[in-house]
Amino acid sequence: MMGSALFTLATALIGLLGAAEAYNRRYITNSSGEVEVVIPGATSYNGLNLVPQMGWDNWNAFGCDVNESLLLNTAQAMVNFGLRDLGYKYVVLDDCWSSGRNESGYLIANPVKFPNGMKHVATALHNMGLKFGMYSSAGKWTCGRFPGSLGYEQKDADLWASWEVDYLKYDNCFNQGQSGTPKLSFDRYNVMSEALNKTGRPMVYSLCNWGNDDPYDWAYTISNSGRMSGDIYDQFNRPDARCPCTESIGCAWPGFHCSVMNILNKMAAITSRTMSGYFNDMDMLEVGNGGQTDSEYVVHFSFWALMSSPLLIGTHVPTLSPANLAILSNPAIIALNQDPSATGAVRKWQYFMDPDENGQGEIALWTRDLHNGDVAIALLNAANSAHTLNATMDQIFLDPRTAGAYKEPVQLRQSWHVYDLWANRMTEAEASAIINGTMNGTAAITNTNSTINPRVTRYNATSLSYEEGLKNNATALFGVRVGTIEPAGTWSVEIPRHSVKMYRLRSTGVETVRTRDEL
Ligand SMILES: *[C@@H]1O[C@H](CO)[C@@H](O)[C@H](O)[C@H]1NC(C)=O
Ligand SMILES: *[C@@H]1O[C@H](CO)[C@@H](O)[C@H](O)[C@H]1NC(C)=O
Ligand SMILES: *[C@@H]1O[C@H](CO)[C@@H](O)[C@H](O)[C@H]1NC(C)=O
Ligand SMILES: *[C@@H]1O[C@H](CO)[C@@H](O)[C@H](O)[C@H]1NC(C)=O
Ligand SMILES: *[C@@H]1O[C@H](CO)[C@@H](O)[C@H](O)[C@H]1NC(C)=O
Ligand SMILES: *[C@@H]1O[C@H](CO)[C@@H](O)[C@H](O)[C@H]1NC(C)=O
Ligand SMILES: *[C@@H]1O[C@H](CO)[C@@H](O)[C@H](O)[C@H]1NC(C)=O
Ligand SMILES: *[C@@H]1O[C@H](CO)[C@@H](O)[C@H](O)[C@H]1NC(C)=O
Ligand SMILES: *[C@@H]1O[C@H](CO)[C@@H](O)[C@H](O)[C@H]1NC(C)=O
Ligand SMILES: *[C@@H]1O[C@H](CO)[C@@H](O)[C@H](O)[C@H]1NC(C)=O
Repeated sequence: MMGSALFTLATALIGLLGAAEAYNRRYITNSSGEVEVVIPGATSYNGLNLVPQMGWDNWNAFGCDVNESLLLNTAQAMVNFGLRDLGYKYVVLDDCWSSGRNESGYLIANPVKFPNGMKHVATALHNMGLKFGMYSSAGKWTCGRFPGSLGYEQKDADLWASWEVDYLKYDNCFNQGQSGTPKLSFDRYNVMSEALNKTGRPMVYSLCNWGNDDPYDWAYTISNSGRMSGDIYDQFNRPDARCPCTESIGCAWPGFHCSVMNILNKMAAITSRTMSGYFNDMDMLEVGNGGQTDSEYVVHFSFWALMSSPLLIGTHVPTLSPANLAILSNPAIIALNQDPSATGAVRKWQYFMDPDENGQGEIALWTRDLHNGDVAIALLNAANSAHTLNATMDQIFLDPRTAGAYKEPVQLRQSWHVYDLWANRMTEAEASAIINGTMNGTAAITNTNSTINPRVTRYNATSLSYEEGLKNNATALFGVRVGTIEPAGTWSVEIPRHSVKMYRLRSTGVETVRTRDEL
């Protein structure tokens, strides 16, 4: 019933806009003039990565200190802690794994770091139900000055395919000046795209050119994700001269040492370039690395999920603290990331309040339309003290409201249930029981069966995908219902310093639904 009501709403909205391309690209008008849901994945150039990739990459925590046991011990912990079954599938080996090229021009895996070779690592990961990611650079050398793949694209792609690699992170160091225009960067990255395709092995292709030459304008035709900023560092909002840009558009020098808030705000302008099969990559997660408070890490993780950024854990998994495991394991937040809409959120407003020690102090409202008609909202307080933040329905539904309609949009005549997506965060005791092995993922998943105040903290996406779980209203994906917004109402909440409130709004369906004919 609800589904068809939502569909009617969507139909009404499309009629309102009178165009096949609505503000919401989940729907099209087909040749019979009827509204049809676009199949997610239609935009993926190689059919892969319809929702953002999730996994782990060693760089943020270990840099060049890589080896077989680091990868396999991490992988085992990902399985034991239920992270694999939450969707963290790719184990990505970053820079510094090779020791040069052999006489025939093929890369050699460093025999000290990888005594059993790379195929062995891939097989071990596959046996654990994980996937293997590899790293190189579209340059003469990698960033760590190991041989790069420029000029060796096919040989390298063939070698990785023979090792049964599933993923490539492709960096931008030592690019021999082949950058500065979108065309130069496109051509350089496209050589590897075609080489990977020629191997016949499906490999997710993750571009890491830091947002140089506007990849959000061209990279979706040749890759599955593209970094949109210089490298992250483990700071909440500290400006750093080495990350000079505050906007993504026209940023000639992406640099590095970019804070969480710097990267988030760079996403505001380019969010429409996030799509199924190609994701704007905000860089690897810092959760667990010690540079931010618990509530700052919650902001970091919440927004990376909300914006459909790839979610690559960037810390040492076997020694994760219970608090950080609880952040990385919130299925209600991950469900935003893995939502089939594959879109980013829109920043509806941003104001500057009392600045903190880093000279900033913003509050902001971000909203995102989800695949099933729900709406996600994030109320962010990055200012220096607690504030009451107010989100009005007019702001949340700005786009349908400003779509040239003579009549108010249907959403404003509805009541919406409000679900708090952090309300079911795992407790320290639950998370430490998982870490010390006294409670496994399954035990935690079924730790309650109350329909009045459901408290389900764990989710197994291996047995039920997020898409199916959302369709079936799987309790773990919806947090806890904390209130209702009446038609044209306002949601107000006090939010502590450097914190976020994440909500999912679900229409109650209570309103007089307009049919297409009435328009
Ligand atoms: C899921 O919840 C929505 C909203 O309450 C409802 O309309 C829909 O029928 C439910 N779907 C299933 C499969 O229970
Ligand atoms: C158009 O969409 C409607 C509704 O989804 C569907 O029933 C119909 O078969 C579609 N027509 C064509 C030509 O694809
Ligand atoms: C592998 O790397 C990890 C992390 O850098 C290090 O702690 C460990 O000692 C290394 N092991 C071997 C066998 O080199
Ligand atoms: C170079 O490495 C490739 C791939 O591992 C291998 O097939 C080839 O035999 C090696 N060539 C030489 C000369 O060692
Ligand atoms: C190669 O490209 C074609 C055409 O885009 C696509 O259909 C195919 O799935 C790709 N194959 C691989 C292995 O990526
Ligand atoms: C939100 O509304 C409350 C009550 O009207 C008001 O006190 C508060 O200042 C508002 N918050 C902001 C950030 O404007
Ligand atoms: C495991 O963690 C739980 C919850 O904190 C605790 O009660 C239990 O004593 C721990 N067991 C071991 C063996 O450390
Ligand atoms: C883990 O779950 C399995 C089945 O889902 C169960 O048989 C096993 O006893 C559980 N182990 C622990 C330590 O809770
Ligand atoms: C998740 O489900 C899969 C497939 O049903 C199962 O093999 C796995 O053990 C489950 N994981 C957990 C943590 O319960
Ligand atoms: C949970 O409650 C439902 C409805 O009361 C019941 O059908 C189901 O068997 C219960 N599940 C468990 C695991 O207790």
